[in-house]
Amino acid sequence: MDFKLRKAEPKDVSDILRLVKELAKYEEMEHQVTLTEKELLEDGFGDTPFYHCFIAEIQGENSSEDPKVVGFVMYYFTYDPWVGKQLYLEEFYVMDQYRGLGIGSELLRHLSDLAMKTRCTGMMFVVAETNEPSVQYYKRRGAEDLSQEEGWRLFRFDKSSLVKMGTPAEE
Ligand code: ACO
Repeated sequence: MDFKLRKAEPKDVSDILRLVKELAKYEEMEHQVTLTEKELLEDGFGDTPFYHCFIAEIQGENSSEDPKVVGFVMYYFTYDPWVGKQLYLEEFYVMDQYRGLGIGSELLRHLSDLAMKTRCTGMMFVVAETNEPSVQYYKRRGAEDLSQEEGWRLFRFDKSSLVKMGTPAEE
């Protein structure tokens, strides 16, 4: 099956949100997705994009049909004060019926090329401990499990903690 990769455009936000929700469902955390298409549009396609995506699409049998978006990677750049620029892989997903065709590998190839072009020293990502097929998928491609090897723990301040730590609102 022929597929094509391309940079995401503003018109893709509804497909991006659809795939984000599918991945969250796969991880059994769908209820945590509160993002809207409007936010995705503003955050990804404004003056300072907070994320970027590559999209994988397949042309239907009828060439007059729009191609179907079947997978994507979402990424951004971060900085590691020990080694410098890093690519951060936030989301990686291919729809169930299109898996095993090499689309995922091609998306990762695109990201690897981008990382080399922009002189990144690595690509970081988080995988749910329960997502064993993906843990193995990444390990087969040489990924190191830093939680296991170096003992890092993932933390977050949620919004209420930030409000508590921040400047109190004026009465
Ligand atoms: N379904 C799934 N995997 C298959 C299938 C199938 N029907 N058939 C074969 N595979 C195996 C292949 O052996 C191959 O592994 P290998 O190349 O190491 O031997 C791999 O799975 C498929 O390789 P690709 O075709 O290149 O990748 P694919 O297009 O299937 O995409 C992905 C890989 C994105 C991980 C996909 O399986 C997926 O969406 N999984 C569910 C969501 C997920 O776990 N995403 C990652 C979350 S972690 C994060 O986002 C940072």
